[in-house]
Amino acid sequence: MKAHVVHQQDHEKIIAYFEAAGLDYTEWSATFNMHFGYYRPGANPFHLEDMLNAMSDEVYERLALDDISEPLVLDLGCGLGTVSRHMAGRHADAQFVGATVTPWQVEEGNKLTEAAGLEDRVLLMEADYLDLPCRLESADAAFAIESACYARGKDKWDFIDALHGTLKPGGRFAVADCFRRNTRPLPRLIDRVYRRCCDCWALQEMAEINLFTRSLERAGFVDIRVDDISWNVAPSVAHVPWTALKFIVKVMLRGELKTLHRERRNNVIAPVLGMLLGMCRPHFSYCIVRGRKPEEGAL
Ligand SMILES: C[S@@+](CC[C@H](N)C(=O)[O-])C[C@H]1O[C@@H](n2cnc3c(N)ncnc32)[C@H](O)[C@@H]1O
Repeated sequence: MKAHVVHQQDHEKIIAYFEAAGLDYTEWSATFNMHFGYYRPGANPFHLEDMLNAMSDEVYERLALDDISEPLVLDLGCGLGTVSRHMAGRHADAQFVGATVTPWQVEEGNKLTEAAGLEDRVLLMEADYLDLPCRLESADAAFAIESACYARGKDKWDFIDALHGTLKPGGRFAVADCFRRNTRPLPRLIDRVYRRCCDCWALQEMAEINLFTRSLERAGFVDIRVDDISWNVAPSVAHVPWTALKFIVKVMLRGELKTLHRERRNNVIAPVLGMLLGMCRPHFSYCIVRGRKPEEGAL
């Protein structure tokens, strides 16, 4: 696999954020789903956890792994591994390896996996997805839910190049994330909200969808498809104000509001700003992007 520049400062910021705010995620999801949800018509939009798990199902379905027995699936930027455990519970023959740069997530996530009795099929490791161990270089599939955004650049080239390097020929991928819809400068106010939101979430910038798909083509991926699922995600985003309010009231009752750690405050501010950006439809979309590496010898 090619070596990519690892930005240590980015890691320090990401780790500080996810370690400080880690436990607060239980306000959003008792099982540590650290992403937005997917609303399927007929589902109950008040059941946030069901929508969060539905996002994992939507991502897994797009990997189209039915024809592969015992697939090795990589969870790039795995958080506490909740997505992998959910998928492993539904797909009994698949093996999952999750990578995160946040040591606390590995430690706690592997404990949760053991408690769920899934330790023979789900393993979380402390690793940068730009620099995965060689033994993971022939995965059948890889996915990244709200984690590819942490790579640098609007085209996320390093992430895509590393993804290509880690999949075997014929391997599939799915990336679920918030994307900018174009490279045009944002209106001033929206730009301020955008920059503050990225900063609070400890990321440099979101990917721009056309640059992202161009990087995928340049890396050699085929059958690239972009599903704009912004409207399916919206019902889960609508849970943000209530979740933030619950959290703030609890913190106030514990008398911790004034001394709340910067990262923990950011963890409340970021989703609220994210919700506002989500309303700026000409500028932002939530998409699942999928594709495949060609079989060896294929044109
Ligand atoms: C918003 S969380 C999403 C977690 C998980 N995918 C989920 O949906 O529950 C982002 C994750 O990306 C991880 N991450 C960020 N940059 C990374 C990198 N370069 N390599 C591996 N993991 C990374 C963070 O540590 C964190 O676990």
